[in-house]
Amino acid sequence: MAEQWVRLAALAEIPDGSVRKFRIDFRSGWLLRRGDSVKAYFDQCTHAGGSLVRKGGVFQCLRHEATFDVETGTPLSGPALDGDPLPIVELKVEDGIVFFKRILSDE
Ligand code: FES
Repeated sequence: MAEQWVRLAALAEIPDGSVRKFRIDFRSGWLLRRGDSVKAYFDQCTHAGGSLVRKGGVFQCLRHEATFDVETGTPLSGPALDGDPLPIVELKVEDGIVFFKRILSDE
């Protein structure tokens, strides 16, 4: 499989300390900026794939109300409690630009 780095945003466009939703290709996710570092999760509950909303320091699943820590993606309550943390979006920052890693299938 090949990979391609796609521009997501300029770091300067993302307020420090913010948590914001983004969409790229046919997926959405949550982008967090903390100083010069950024991280992102796919908007996908690890119980059964529900979409998430942010409520203060947690993401809450819209399907069965599992909650996840915003900073770590760790499940905190509900049916995802014994499951995996939120799936991480692979990112890199170069010259003040945040890039998303797109995996290209050989099919
Ligand atoms: S799909 Fe999220 S708690 Fe079930």
